[in-house]
Amino acid sequence: ASDFFAPQPFENVNLLLTAGPTREAIDPVRYISNHSSGKMGFALAQAASEMGAKVTLVSGPVNLSTPLGVTRIDVDSAAEMHAAVMQHVNHQDIFIGCAAVADYRIANIATRKLKKSSSDTMTLDLVKNPDILASVANLTPKPFTVGFAAETQDVVHYAKDKLMRKKLDMIAANDVSQPELGFNADNNALCVIWDDGQQMLPTTDKYTLAKQLLSLIADKRLNE
Ligand code: CTP
Ligand code: CA
Repeated sequence: ASDFFAPQPFENVNLLLTAGPTREAIDPVRYISNHSSGKMGFALAQAASEMGAKVTLVSGPVNLSTPLGVTRIDVDSAAEMHAAVMQHVNHQDIFIGCAAVADYRIANIATRKLKKSSSDTMTLDLVKNPDILASVANLTPKPFTVGFAAETQDVVHYAKDKLMRKKLDMIAANDVSQPELGFNADNNALCVIWDDGQQMLPTTDKYTLAKQLLSLIADKRLNE
């Protein structure tokens, strides 16, 4: 109730975001995935909803409950995440790609459980997944499009390259080489970069960081 008169920077704003890992099936019982917990994406969904946005959250497999007021769509693979995003992207004002999307999927998913062979090695053939973030950024009209960049070295350099290459409005770079930050951690630190500026958001919990990033997005979107 104390928040009743709090400013609502995202009143009448539709916000779509992706969160969590994807799972790329190998056979009916195995998959390739990553250590994303979904915590950053879910914190963004909660904070955006509290700031007045109508939030649609496309989530990979995670162990988190849906924030109040958020519409959640569960997916497994990158292909499913891509399809769900494309289905819901119309009329969105902001898109945030927070998911750790698998860059590759298995070329031919086995319909039966693979058996061990006599060979000591085995090879899986992989094909590239669609880039969901770049697909959204290529739409006309496009929502204000924000990416994440998980890097283990030259964080700002690689993030700037992704900002340009994917034609993003903003990118939040994340040093995942520090085990206490980023993937599967409760805290994070971000370097947020846009076409003519950047700002450090120092280490804090993901909910506080989410609110800070969303405030930056609210500012820059109106100054476009
Ligand atoms: N992303 C996406 N679809 C993919 C791959 C990545 O939407 N198929 C998005 C992520 O959600 C993130 C951003 O792209 O917002 C950057 O992801 P990242 O893995 O850091 O960059 P990549 O472009 O995949 O490059 P690389 O993994 O080689 O660093
Ligand atoms: Ca990647």
